[in-house]
Amino acid sequence: MTRPPSKKVAKGNLRLDRVSDAARWNARYDKLHAQLDKARRGQTRPVEPTPFLEEALDFIRCVEVGPRVTSRTDELWLPTTATGEPPESLDLASGTGDDVLHLAQRGWRAHGVDVSDKATQILERRARDLELSVGAITADLETWCPGSERWHLVTCFKYLDRRALSRVTHALKPGGHLVFETFSTEHPRVSGGRGPGNSRFLLDPNEVPSLLEDLQLLHRADLVEPTGDGSSRALIRLIARRPVTGPVAECRT
Ligand SMILES: C[S@@+](CC[C@H](N)C(=O)[O-])C[C@H]1O[C@@H](n2cnc3c(N)ncnc32)[C@H](O)[C@@H]1O
Repeated sequence: MTRPPSKKVAKGNLRLDRVSDAARWNARYDKLHAQLDKARRGQTRPVEPTPFLEEALDFIRCVEVGPRVTSRTDELWLPTTATGEPPESLDLASGTGDDVLHLAQRGWRAHGVDVSDKATQILERRARDLELSVGAITADLETWCPGSERWHLVTCFKYLDRRALSRVTHALKPGGHLVFETFSTEHPRVSGGRGPGNSRFLLDPNEVPSLLEDLQLLHRADLVEPTGDGSSRALIRLIARRPVTGPVAECRT
């Protein structure tokens, strides 16, 4: 399919060249949603978070409060906040929001941001069905600024925008965490042509230090895992923390 010509004209937060990205993802989500609606016949779709999210939350809990778990509160672990309100999380490129909904179920004030308004509408609808409160933001991560020292946790799964990630350090609260998983440059070799193949969307293992800039790396895994359909995928998983003290770069768009 030929892509419409790129026009860099502002339209709210979305520039028109990015609107075509939004349109492509909207078309995918329309189709997916119709299939899911048919399959579930009115049942609420279960929340299926990225497995690494749960592992990362356990890991962070162990680092922050130790490995002993004596109660459900310990197990869920929520960072304490100055106001006593639940901590805030932001999922970049949240899609239909499984990871946002999962964090909301665990007690976070969870937000997701995605360029596709279909995706954020689906997230809002799922949250309503589950009687959860979430923030669903439609915005282009190429230009959107996630704020300053606001988030206790930023997550990002299967999406790579190097500039958007460079804004995370400043957006995290001091001591806040980034949990990130994306496809690596190994992926095309092991995937049999499935998933991303464009190097723009693939992370080179040597890029990790520059990607994290002022964050402290707490955990890294470079792995190839089977996908269950006879194929494999190559991923890089990272958990990093903003130091409690020290200057970090301002938001750059
Ligand atoms: C592969 S999906 C991943 C969705 C979700 N994180 C997950 O793991 O299921 C990539 C997501 O990135 C979103 N996306 C693509 N370009 C974007 C942009 N410029 N700004 C914000 N979101 C974008 C798409 O709409 C899509 O929901």
